[in-house]
Amino acid sequence: MSGRIEGKRAIVTGAGMGIGRAAALKFAQEGAKVGLIDLNEAAAKQVAKSIEDQGGEALVLRADVTDEAQVTEAIGSASRHWGGLDVVVANAGVLWANQDNRADRLDVEVWRKVVDINLTGIFITCKHGIRALLESGGGAVVCTASPTGLFGLAPGLDAYSSSKAGVYGLIRVLANDYSKEGIRVNGVIPGYTDTPMNDYVQRPEGHERIVATIPLGRQGTAEEVANVMCFLASDEASYVTGAVWAADGGMTAI
Ligand SMILES: NC(=O)c1ccc[n+]([C@@H]2O[C@H](COP(=O)([O-])OP(=O)(O)OC[C@H]3O[C@@H](n4cnc5c(N)ncnc54)[C@H](O)[C@@H]3O)[C@@H](O)[C@H]2O)c1
Repeated sequence: MSGRIEGKRAIVTGAGMGIGRAAALKFAQEGAKVGLIDLNEAAAKQVAKSIEDQGGEALVLRADVTDEAQVTEAIGSASRHWGGLDVVVANAGVLWANQDNRADRLDVEVWRKVVDINLTGIFITCKHGIRALLESGGGAVVCTASPTGLFGLAPGLDAYSSSKAGVYGLIRVLANDYSKEGIRVNGVIPGYTDTPMNDYVQRPEGHERIVATIPLGRQGTAEEVANVMCFLASDEASYVTGAVWAADGGMTAI
């Protein structure tokens, strides 16, 4: 434990797998108490066990980020348990490669569901997370965006790309809304990251095609994204708000 966010009380959505899991483990290593919000309770329990085995403190909070009542209850119980909240990571998201499509073939119900999870879910998490931060006197919010929300680089992932574009707008307006109340709001842009979300990518052809577009010439790890999230959540980022930090191997630089 090196203590970069020692004593902070955090919640992370999508904490059962991938980037959320890596963020929860990193935060715990750096001294935070972590509330693990995920639909997949079994996965969140495994993360909690890893944190506890290393001497950290975690709470498993099953919730669907699209369900406001469940998110209110999950964030409320973490906040009540620890007597407040300091860090909110709105990260849960889905990429439905088999159902998402280019617009002329995209079922509007798929569009609605993806936007509901990836954008409205981030909004609901921020809404209730920020309420808890306001009661605690301030804190930090980190939202997970994507290169696909900035550039049309994922043909056929129209719902996913559009949902992620909305996250940028939300980060910036929230940063402005709450700057006077001691709340910083930032985003992280993971690049092509080695998580279960990318299991759909065909190997080796599809994988190599994507890697060829990355200046650093390799896929990123969830831990490399979690490191940036930890910085943004920490007091080291005290003058950083309304920013989106790429951990993408240079993908959005070209
Ligand atoms: N992996 C990448 O290459 C990549 C790139 C850019 C952005 N992202 C973004 O990073 C975030 C995390 O992605 P990941 O790669 O770790 O994905 P993942 O599929 O590996 O893990 C996502 C986690 O979110 C949970 N989740 C999904 N829907 C939920 C819901 N409605 N309510 C609560 N929990 C839910 C899942 O159970 C899972 O534990 C997402 O927002 C994703 O869009 C990922």
